[in-house]
Amino acid sequence: MKILLLGYGKMGQLIDKLATEKGHEVVGKINIDNRHELEHLNSSNVDVAIEFSQPEAAVENIKWCLEHQIPVAVGTTGWLDKRAEINAYCKEKNGTYLFASNYSIGVNIFFKLNEYLAQMMADQGYAITTKEIHHTSKKDAPSGTSITLAEGILKHVTSKKNWVNHETNDAQELEIISERIDPAPGTHEITYSSPVDTIEICHTAHSREGFAKGAIAVAEWLKDQKGDKTMDEFLASKF
Ligand SMILES: NC(=O)c1ccc[n+]([C@@H]2O[C@H](COP(=O)([O-])OP(=O)(O)OC[C@H]3O[C@@H](n4cnc5c(N)ncnc54)[C@H](O)[C@@H]3O)[C@@H](O)[C@H]2O)c1
Repeated sequence: MKILLLGYGKMGQLIDKLATEKGHEVVGKINIDNRHELEHLNSSNVDVAIEFSQPEAAVENIKWCLEHQIPVAVGTTGWLDKRAEINAYCKEKNGTYLFASNYSIGVNIFFKLNEYLAQMMADQGYAITTKEIHHTSKKDAPSGTSITLAEGILKHVTSKKNWVNHETNDAQELEIISERIDPAPGTHEITYSSPVDTIEICHTAHSREGFAKGAIAVAEWLKDQKGDKTMDEFLASKF
């Protein structure tokens, strides 16, 4: 598969290495400094693009792919205020794109496991707590992943009305505790406790390889798809 990399920072470089090891060919590495190379790129020599750049660049990059009929797997976060515009553009150009805020296959399986467990535990009377642990240079809290997990629980456990990012004794609130420690692998825990037992599920990320491998797997699938696709559709095709 011939891949165009839009954004060649930490993620772009890792995807380059892992995709090449997997036998794919990287036909373009576009960064902020060499974006002009896109003008001369032969788009018919590209099967799929993978976009990990910056919020200000993502919309322009996605539009370029849609215009040139190149399916694009987008990992850049922070541009979602333009999502409706991109969806309309994708339709207008009859193009293909997929955005995922987290490409880790393990995390996406964990999202499903979380919802499945929440569904079963909804009326069992267990106390529910959630925790996420990251390194101290992570600026946002709670993590986007922990918000997705909390939303997955709130969907099924209707006795909880909202999540809060602190300890709480209010039964209607779902607590997310955020810890920042060095060094710390990204960790997300969901705990159901009762006087008789405890059930706990946990995801620990060991490196950013999970995101890169997930993005490559999605790109392999996306090159044969059409339209605005989702991570759920990708996972449904695999599991
Ligand atoms: N969805 C996921 O699973 C996931 C995982 C990790 C990171 N991310 C997101 O991916 C993005 C990139 O992450 P990173 O760690 O590689 O960041 P990074 O800062 O290491 O790299 C970003 C790169 O984008 C380049 N860039 C800037 N403007 C550009 C333009 N107009 N065209 C092409 N390239 C341009 C920069 O030169 C830089 O090299 C961030 O938004 C991050 O939050 C998402």
